[in-house]
Amino acid sequence: MTRSNSEAVIELRGLTKDYQTGFFKTASVRALDNLDLTVYRGEIFGFLGPNGAGKTTTLKLLMNLIFPTAGSAHILGHPVEDTATRSKIGYLPENPYFYDYLSGRELLYYTAALFGIDKSQAKRRADELLEVVGLSSEQANRQLRKYSKGMLQRIGIAQALVNDPDVVFMDEPMSGLDPFGRREIRDLLLSLGERSKTVFFSSHILSDVETLCDRAAILNQGKLVGCGTIDELAGGRQSTLEVIATGIEQAAISALSETVPRVVSVTPTPRGVHIILGDETGLDSALSFIRSRGGKLVSVNPSRTSLEDAFFNVERRQ
Ligand SMILES: Nc1ncnc2c1ncn2[C@@H]1O[C@H](COP(=O)(O)OP(=O)(O)OP(=O)(O)O)[C@@H](O)[C@H]1O
Ligand SMILES: [Mg+2]
Repeated sequence: MTRSNSEAVIELRGLTKDYQTGFFKTASVRALDNLDLTVYRGEIFGFLGPNGAGKTTTLKLLMNLIFPTAGSAHILGHPVEDTATRSKIGYLPENPYFYDYLSGRELLYYTAALFGIDKSQAKRRADELLEVVGLSSEQANRQLRKYSKGMLQRIGIAQALVNDPDVVFMDEPMSGLDPFGRREIRDLLLSLGERSKTVFFSSHILSDVETLCDRAAILNQGKLVGCGTIDELAGGRQSTLEVIATGIEQAAISALSETVPRVVSVTPTPRGVHIILGDETGLDSALSFIRSRGGKLVSVNPSRTSLEDAFFNVERRQ
C-alpha cells in the first residue's frame, strides 16, 4: 500500500480536453483543464469528483480512446498512443458494453484470446478470476444479457484483470454493487495494491476512497482542486478531540465547561460523559477533572474532519 519505490507509473502533464459541441461543432466545452498528476507504482489512487467533473474524460484519454486538445499522458513511461503498453494495462469502462449473447466465461476467454493467452491458461485464469469477483460457475455460464447490474460490474472487473495487468484503470468500479459486493471489490482492490499493482479508479463514493486509497485527487469542472494523501485532503483544518469517560456524577458534569478550556460540547451519557475539545489545550485539564471526580477515562480520539468535509468544502468554494 505504500509508494514502494517512487516509480512514476501514470504521468499526466497539462492534459486538456475540449469537446466540440453544437450542430456545426462550432462551440466547445472544456471538459479537462491543464491536469498535472503523477501516480506511483503500487498506489491505490482515487480519482474523485462530482458528476461532470471530467473523470471519465481523463480515463478515456489515458486509454487513448479520445485525443487530448493539449498536454500529454504517459503510462509506465510510454506515451498512451504506444499500443505495446496495452498488454500491461487493464480497463473497466464506466458503462461496459459487452456482446451480450456471450456467457460471462466466454467473455473472459474472448478477452484472454485478444491478449494472446492460450486456451488452457485462459481457463485457469477465468476460474481464478470468477472466484475472485464472486461469480458462481452457474452464473458464469449464463448469457450476459441475463446479468444484473452488479453481476455485469463483476464480470467487467474480471475482464479488466485477465491479462494480469500492472496498472488497472477503473471507472466507478463500485457502481451498481450492493454493500456486500462493494466490500468484496474493496478487498479485491486492496489485494491488488498489496501485489504492487497500481490501481487508478474514479468514484464519487467518498467512503470507498477513504478506506482504500493511499492518495486521491479531487477534480471539479475539469480542474484539479486537491491532491494528496487522505489525511492531507481531509486535514489542514482544526481537528477536534473526543474524550469519553465513565463513573462521573451527572451533577459534576456541569462544572466541566467552566473548568476545562476549549470545550466544544459536553454530553452526559448513561454511564458518564462525552466531551469534545476544540484542540489539545484542554486535554490535561479535562483528564485531571475526570480523575478528581472519581471518573474513569475510556478513550481519547482525534475526531478528524473527514474526506467528505474536504470534498464538500471544495465544491462550495467553486
Ligand atoms: N462526447 C462529449 N461531447 C461533449 N461533451 C462531453 C462529451 N463527453 C463528456 N462531455 C462533457 O464533459 C464534461 C466532463 O464529463 P465526464 O463524463 O468526463 O465527467 P465525469 O466526471 O465522468 O462525470 P460522472 O461522475 O457523471 O461520470 C461534462 O460537462 C460532459 O457534459
Ligand atoms: Mg464518468
